[in-house]
Amino acid sequence: MKILVVGGAGYIGSHMVKQLALSNHEVVTLDNLSCGYKDAVKYGELVIGDLGDVNVLKQLFSNHKFDAVMHFAAFIEVGESVINPAKYYHNNVSNTHVLLDAMVKHDIENFIFSSTAAIFGEPQYTPVDEGHPQHPINPYGRSKLMVEHMLEDYDEAYGLKSTCMRYFNAAGADPDGELGERHNPESHLVPLILQAASGRRADIKIFGQDYPTDDGTCVRDYVHINDLCDAHSLALSRMQKTGSSARYNLGNGKGFSVQQVIDTAKQVSCRDFKVVITDRRAGDPAVLVADARLAKQELNWQPKFDQLETIIETAWQWETNFFTQ
Ligand code: UFG
Repeated sequence: MKILVVGGAGYIGSHMVKQLALSNHEVVTLDNLSCGYKDAVKYGELVIGDLGDVNVLKQLFSNHKFDAVMHFAAFIEVGESVINPAKYYHNNVSNTHVLLDAMVKHDIENFIFSSTAAIFGEPQYTPVDEGHPQHPINPYGRSKLMVEHMLEDYDEAYGLKSTCMRYFNAAGADPDGELGERHNPESHLVPLILQAASGRRADIKIFGQDYPTDDGTCVRDYVHINDLCDAHSLALSRMQKTGSSARYNLGNGKGFSVQQVIDTAKQVSCRDFKVVITDRRAGDPAVLVADARLAKQELNWQPKFDQLETIIETAWQWETNFFTQ
């Protein structure tokens, strides 16, 4: 197949490009490099441009006949989305709308969308399945849910088929050591801990130790980046076979506390580092764990890197090889 990966220079997108290329698909990346890196696109053509630019899209869709589009080009900082919602609604919603319209115009019928557990808001029960009520509590989550709604309407009206992939906590890195996580600024727990382990950061701060969990720190469901990519590939095959849209919650169904992630990172890295307990971060639910049974049943998705140690080992390999050589 010929696939356009929008945001293919970013963390998840670059791993997806690699997996698609190694599975003999023809891949083109569209990225404006606002958050991504040119050198992260190791396979296929890179077109530098904005997903909200109708002329760029017109040219791309006239030059190539794509079987599918995968969209990873969103802003993802929850805190920033509260301070600057316009940035999120503009890129995550308006620009995605431009992309979808261009797809409809050029008869491209398959779309895979990076969604998020943030569409559910504060969990009413756990693990969180696809039927969980959707009440996002920040503009980031709302921007993703708006696109999910848009996709339902575009399927109904224009026959655009989509699969929404709701990631819980994406983590880890390419086991070959070629790619990894490079957010700037970094806000995610695993890379921040490993920066403390490698000495690039003075300490790791635990945001709150008074949650109603076993050790008082927040519990999350960490899922390896390659397993997420596998789910995308399987979702694409399914969509092509069935001609129907779908939504999946993607996680390992196992929760680990912030303290457990820190302890595991200390073991994996064989390094000790300073841990500082600070106040809670606004908007963090105590526990967020996925019920991913639907993806397992319908896609036959079987995560391969489902041990926290393995996820952290791959991220540690990236931290030590790429940043601290
Ligand atoms: N945390 C710390 N210290 C840090 C960073 C994070 O204690 O320095 C804690 C957070 O408070 C949270 C956990 O580690 O309890 C995980 O935090 P991340 O920022 O790594 O991830 P989140 O669970 O906040 O966010 C993830 C995705 C978001 C998505 C969200 C859905 O990264 O894009 O899940 O709820 F919106």
